[in-house]
Amino acid sequence: MKVVAINGSSRKNGNTASALDAASAVLEEEGIRTARIEIGSLAFHGCIGCGTCRSKQNRRCRLDGDELNSNLETLFAADGILLGSPVYYAGINGALKSFLDRAFFVAGANGGLFRHKVGAALVAVRRGGAATALDQLNKYLGICEMFIPTGNYWSMVYGQAPGEAARDDEGMQCVRVLAANMAWLLKSVAAGRGSLPPPQTKAMMNFIR
Ligand SMILES: Cc1cc2nc3c(=O)[nH]c(=O)nc-3n(C[C@H](O)[C@H](O)[C@H](O)COP(=O)(O)O)c2cc1C
Repeated sequence: MKVVAINGSSRKNGNTASALDAASAVLEEEGIRTARIEIGSLAFHGCIGCGTCRSKQNRRCRLDGDELNSNLETLFAADGILLGSPVYYAGINGALKSFLDRAFFVAGANGGLFRHKVGAALVAVRRGGAATALDQLNKYLGICEMFIPTGNYWSMVYGQAPGEAARDDEGMQCVRVLAANMAWLLKSVAAGRGSLPPPQTKAMMNFIR
């Protein structure tokens, strides 16, 4: 089993990374392989809503000028996805937002490629806005029928300079609990794969009368 973690921060050794490291260590202890995608210092175009991923059904985004497509199959092959973001203006950082909008749209438009994977999220914050940013990440997981584990608080670690969040004992404990619950959920989903509910044709209603 494999979990792919996405670090939205441009700081590869920053506070988001500290939290992802702690979660990954627990997952590895539980026998789950982990990998990291670093996107924070790369430029990602936002989704332009062209719908080509839906019409072409080729598991790719039409915008080929950045590293979105080269990472998609890694995500589609994973059993679990762990999202990590620094808090920027009480939300997730821009590169991550662009990346996730397109990755999740391609997955949804191609038959629900994230469906029934386990998805977890965490954020790193200096002072305020962690709850809204975490909520934003969990929205991606929830819309595509991913299974979401929880920690013993909301998974936010506090710090500004790189390394500070590693000293947030409560935040880091929460992240480790989140990862332990993620590991258990991954194993449970694997054990129950034969009896997972079938997909339903989506009832789309745009509130136009
Ligand atoms: C553009 C920008 C916006 C930020 N906005 C917030 C914010 O709204 N609230 C907050 O508490 N910290 C904010 N911060 C601080 C970061 O969230 C904080 O330093 C975090 O630990 C960075 O994580 P990293 O080390 O993984 O990059 C902001 C930082 C930057 C660069």
